[in-house]
Amino acid sequence: MLIVANWKAAVESLDKAKKLLALAKRLVKQTRITIVLVPPAPYLGLLASSNKSKVEFGAQDVSVTTGGAQTGEVSAQIIASVGARYVIIGHSERRARGETLEDIAQKMQHAVAHDLIPILCVGEQERDENAAYLALLRQQITSALEPLTQKERMSVVIAYEPIWAIGKTAADAITSADLQEMMLYIRKILSDLVPGRANARIPILYGGSAEAGNIRELAGGSRVDGFLVGHASVDLKMFSELVKALA
Ligand code: PGA
Repeated sequence: MLIVANWKAAVESLDKAKKLLALAKRLVKQTRITIVLVPPAPYLGLLASSNKSKVEFGAQDVSVTTGGAQTGEVSAQIIASVGARYVIIGHSERRARGETLEDIAQKMQHAVAHDLIPILCVGEQERDENAAYLALLRQQITSALEPLTQKERMSVVIAYEPIWAIGKTAADAITSADLQEMMLYIRKILSDLVPGRANARIPILYGGSAEAGNIRELAGGSRVDGFLVGHASVDLKMFSELVKALA
């Protein structure tokens, strides 16, 4: 099981960041869960570069450009150079700020070129009666993976994050029956992009109001490979309970 802790901009002191890392270190020792911390960029540099534990690190986004005269940008090479192994790409909060499918495809290519594992976030704003959201998901996944080689496609992680379920409480998250359906659907899309059995090795995560109260049920009923956790990952007590509930 993989837990990706997306701190977003919710951790605004280095002291708190260090406390969350200390907790994650304890939790990876106590459980067999892989924890990927995804702090804001300045903390990522500090924490990942001095990390000697089994805690993994990722960036919240990557530049659509490579290095050079690009004020404000953080390239894939910069992220890799501090020891991070993962990068979230296409989070709905980035898409809402104008990130396009082309940007995302470009970012995926930069990430894999520097041996970073892209965590591609996909998900619908809402569910319409005609199920157009299913076509949207297919488009989001296909447009991001198609430019990659077969081998590179095998190195990605997919995070299904329905936007309607993000940032709420366990009661608003997806049901485990619906999640199971979505897992099958996403697996089908992946099997078209990576034919044969190989696509089974691409992890599919769920994100959107995963908390200690629902994570076990979601995991049990759906064959999900892990979770992308937002608000419950930046509260010491909630995060500890969530990881222990899953373990
Ligand atoms: P949430 O956020 O757990 O607070 O719903 C998930 C995400 O946006 O990645």
